Amino acid sequence: MITLTVNGRPHEIDDDPNTPLLYVLRNTLELNAAKFGCGLGQCGACTVLMDDQPIYSCLTPIAALQGRKLTTLEGLGTIADPGPLQRAFIAEQAAQCGYCIPGMMMRAQALLQRDSAPSDAQIRAQMEANLCRCGTHMRILRAVRRAGEEMQKASHAQAGKG
Ligand code: FES
Ligand code: FES
Repeated sequence: MITLTVNGRPHEIDDDPNTPLLYVLRNTLELNAAKFGCGLGQCGACTVLMDDQPIYSCLTPIAALQGRKLTTLEGLGTIADPGPLQRAFIAEQAAQCGYCIPGMMMRAQALLQRDSAPSDAQIRAQMEANLCRCGTHMRILRAVRRAGEEMQKASHAQAGKG
């Protein structure tokens, strides 16, 4: 039995310890945001955060994740109450088929948690590992920039209250 902590909630998992996290998320926990693209660590569709770092969940066995903090797109907000990154992707209409977008958002989230005012070069370097075959890259970059600006405004507003 392995305990996986996903989006702040612990789950006792009875699957084979060699099972890739992606399968456990989708099939066992019914968290379907992370997608199967290549299964080879080459496309980023399966990206989630482990201790705030992006990982390919298609390649990571659950045996390696005991005691780690995992975050999936479901942890960033809900349809009724989307988080800043989700709102920015909607505002910029940064999706065509949408298949790559959950992975894109998780990779962007890792960057914005470290630095909500990244340069364009930093955003491009961060997002390079994730592929979009629909070609929505420019909108995705705009959405990441917009989300960072929103996060900065929110933290300034918070600081103003303190
Ligand atoms: S499905 Fe994991 S990197 Fe492509
Ligand atoms: S929006 Fe279709 S793969 Fe990116």
